[in-house]
Amino acid sequence: MLVITHIKGLVQILPDDVRYVAGADMQKLQVLENAYLAMEGDRIKDFGPMADYEAKKAAWGGVEEIDAHGRFVFPAYCDSHTHIVYAGSREIEYNDKIRGLSYEEIAKRGGGILNSCDRLRAATEDELFEAAKARFEEMMAYGTGAMEIKSGYGLDLESELKMLRVIARLKALNLAQVRANFLPAHAVPREYIGRQSEYVDLIVREMIPAVGKEKSADFIDVFCDRGFFTVAETDRMLEAAAAYGLQPKIHANELDFSGGIQVGVKHGALSVDHLEYVGDAEIECLKASWKGGRGTMPTVLPGAAFFLEMELSPVRKMMQAGLPVALASDFNPGSAPSGNMQFIQSLGCIRYKMYPEEVVHATTINTAYAIGLSDELGGIGRGRRANVFITKPIPSYEYMPYSFGNNKVETLVLNGKVVR
Ligand code: NIG
Ligand code: FE
Repeated sequence: MLVITHIKGLVQILPDDVRYVAGADMQKLQVLENAYLAMEGDRIKDFGPMADYEAKKAAWGGVEEIDAHGRFVFPAYCDSHTHIVYAGSREIEYNDKIRGLSYEEIAKRGGGILNSCDRLRAATEDELFEAAKARFEEMMAYGTGAMEIKSGYGLDLESELKMLRVIARLKALNLAQVRANFLPAHAVPREYIGRQSEYVDLIVREMIPAVGKEKSADFIDVFCDRGFFTVAETDRMLEAAAAYGLQPKIHANELDFSGGIQVGVKHGALSVDHLEYVGDAEIECLKASWKGGRGTMPTVLPGAAFFLEMELSPVRKMMQAGLPVALASDFNPGSAPSGNMQFIQSLGCIRYKMYPEEVVHATTINTAYAIGLSDELGGIGRGRRANVFITKPIPSYEYMPYSFGNNKVETLVLNGKVVR
């Protein structure tokens, strides 16, 4: 048994049956001061005040202890939206952007996703795996213990399957939990430019059935937005994917009121992500999805909005409407080249005026929900998976988003074992 003792604050204690935290409840955070946390196998066995620890320890026998004096313990971050399998980087477009071109203009000039597509097709599976593994490890160094990873830079069956194999290899490392999202409709590949509907046919007739039969993805994604895929096309692709049990988690409303939220909700999406363009109709639609208790998680990607200097998603308005909100990194080479979830929390507070308590829920239990793992991840509770990080000595939990850009994580425990 592994026990973390003398914890200054054990943060985000959650009842067993909590699968997400919504609205005003996001302002409440349960923190136990001067605590211990005991883990056995890959699960949390127990936790409580240090005053009770000696008696427990006598009953348990042989324990290995980590003294966390002056340090906080949090559930490891869940990052529910990433594109970490890619070849090369795109700082060249970053220069274009600084000189005034927009994301859409860069994409139209053959940059953007198609630039990454060319390089991905040319890379071997091993090269992609090594590059993705380095990003995976960096994310863990900043405290991430579970993540969704998308395909979407292959844009033909063979290259998309190559990406999914890389994701499967990351999953097989048995470190951070990994969920795979199949994203063939990320952009129209060069060989189909001017023939978008034929590419959608290919996705529906060949790509989705191939991936569905292989069961190499957990989810299906579509970039449903102005200049990318339409609502009608998205509807068709999500319908085809449903036959293979691929639940949608889609890119929506980043560039316009695209109807992406509505079509996602219609197909029971686990999450709709980006959401810079959200009005009353979108909020009503999201609220209706939660009537049965299993709704679509509104997920905001503050790193991409920061990097592209976009509209800010109306996060406060969504929470005031009683909705839950999740924050993920969107780690990708074009719009968010960082998977640092501590910085995402800082952006949540600074730019979206979220409270430190709210950004904890938004990066743990709510993102765990958005990858379908909130029965076991996203909080501290007996029987939940033992995925936590221990901070460096810090004065308070609010210090996490306050001290932006700095890594406050000292030790990462995944599946009940110290991994770094
Ligand atoms: O989530 N919005 C679409 N896709 C990515 C960007 C991918 C890229 O530019 O490579 C995103 O921001
Ligand atoms: Fe994305």
